[in-house]
Amino acid sequence: VAISNEDLYRPNFHFSPEKGWMNDPNGMFYYNGYYHLYFQHYPDGTTWGPMHWGHAISTDLFNWKEQPIALFPDELGYIFSGSAVVDIENTSSFGVDGKTPIVAIYTSHDPKKEKTGDIDVENQSIAYSLDEGLTWTKYEGNPVLKNPGVRDFRDPKVSWDDERKRWNMVVAAGQEIQFYISKDLKSWEKLTSFGEGIGNHSGVWECPDLFQLPVIGSSEKKWVLLVSINPGGPNTGSATQYFVGDFNGSNFIVDESFKEEMKREHSFWVDHGRDNYAGVTFSNIENKDGGKLFMGWMSNWLYANEVPTEKWRSATTTARTLELVKGKNTYRLIANPVPELHEFKSKKLESLDVVLEGNTLLTTSKAIDFTSAQINFKVEDLVDGVYTFELSNSEGDSLRFGYDATKGNYFVDRNKAGITDFSNKFSDRIALAPRISNHKNWTGTIILDKTSIELFFDNGQTVMTEIFFPKAPFDSFYFKAPSDEYNLEYIDIQQLKFNLN
Ligand code: FRU
Repeated sequence: VAISNEDLYRPNFHFSPEKGWMNDPNGMFYYNGYYHLYFQHYPDGTTWGPMHWGHAISTDLFNWKEQPIALFPDELGYIFSGSAVVDIENTSSFGVDGKTPIVAIYTSHDPKKEKTGDIDVENQSIAYSLDEGLTWTKYEGNPVLKNPGVRDFRDPKVSWDDERKRWNMVVAAGQEIQFYISKDLKSWEKLTSFGEGIGNHSGVWECPDLFQLPVIGSSEKKWVLLVSINPGGPNTGSATQYFVGDFNGSNFIVDESFKEEMKREHSFWVDHGRDNYAGVTFSNIENKDGGKLFMGWMSNWLYANEVPTEKWRSATTTARTLELVKGKNTYRLIANPVPELHEFKSKKLESLDVVLEGNTLLTTSKAIDFTSAQINFKVEDLVDGVYTFELSNSEGDSLRFGYDATKGNYFVDRNKAGITDFSNKFSDRIALAPRISNHKNWTGTIILDKTSIELFFDNGQTVMTEIFFPKAPFDSFYFKAPSDEYNLEYIDIQQLKFNLN
């Protein structure tokens, strides 16, 4: 029997909408035991269309339950990307009867104005919920922030400035990020803007986020600004760049050491793979060390509308913890899967000191289902040459990824990993990422679902996320090193098991 499109491609533990189109994650927050994910959604078709905010909730970031649509398009337009905050002090005075309002801040994108060629297509609006994010009321005074005269003015991300007791908003405006403040989420005052002469400007700036992170192993704190750009990504298409610096309440100033390093590296990327876009952090939660929780859209505008799923399109990335480390020259964002993932480990195949013989078969689908797996490995004493992991199946599909130690590049090659002909942009190259670490040992975590691979190398210093569409599930897992004399120090292949609902 032929395996259905749904069975082959519906992710096991990444969120995908039951039906219809999805792009950016929106308004993510944590409250009262639940993680909330809203998302750019067109429920009536599987390509981008009039945007709604879909909604899903989870208690563990992996088992998501889709909820009724949260926000529908209205007379102000489509509901574009934005954020949500828990207004604990009821600064908005939307809260009645002691209920804590959740306030969503989003872009109203007016297709009528787009047609007539008016500049003020995009304005910022708000809505509030008094039942913990389930149902929403749009504010009658919308829009709360009017277009300043730039065609692209969108994706407001709001956070509480505890030091100054006010709300900060970062919003994309053409090729810059603008900073606004508010006391009540309804009236906004512009402070500054950022972006001229710095960063990658080969595409439109979208989906910013601004947050503070402690620098691991010190008492120092720094601010991080995320800016998604499309196109201009390191491996073509859409991707998210970041800047590290300081924020004094009104100005974001890039750190000098970071600027210096930008001269060498040009841009810093949250993820070097082609399939992590428009990601931002959750409101109202951080981990015990002050790290932030992040999720992105696991696709790319180059081909998102064409991927071969029938009933729905797109999924979110695995939730990740973002932290900051100080390297030799400057600060770097590191990302790793959230620790909640540990709860889903069941069977574990552990191999220490794997003896290599050419292309060595590590394990097969008889022992591990590769559509829900986490693999941790360590390679010692890197030498010149290419280290390749390979997943393959009986259909002749093969997904290859690894490290080219001669060139100093990590790579993901999905060009023969299954169906690719839906777009000529999907498999026109091998995705590459420069290795930052100069450590002789190479460690990594590999997260596998039916149609995605997420690679976290060197403790999350280099991340690559890519999607693929094999004609059958992968059934064999191989590893090859430049020479048989070099052993794989260890490899843990773990089955992830989710109480799928
Ligand atoms: C990013 C984006 C946002 C916009 C949304 C529209 O992928 O272009 O800037 O708000 O998608 O769906």
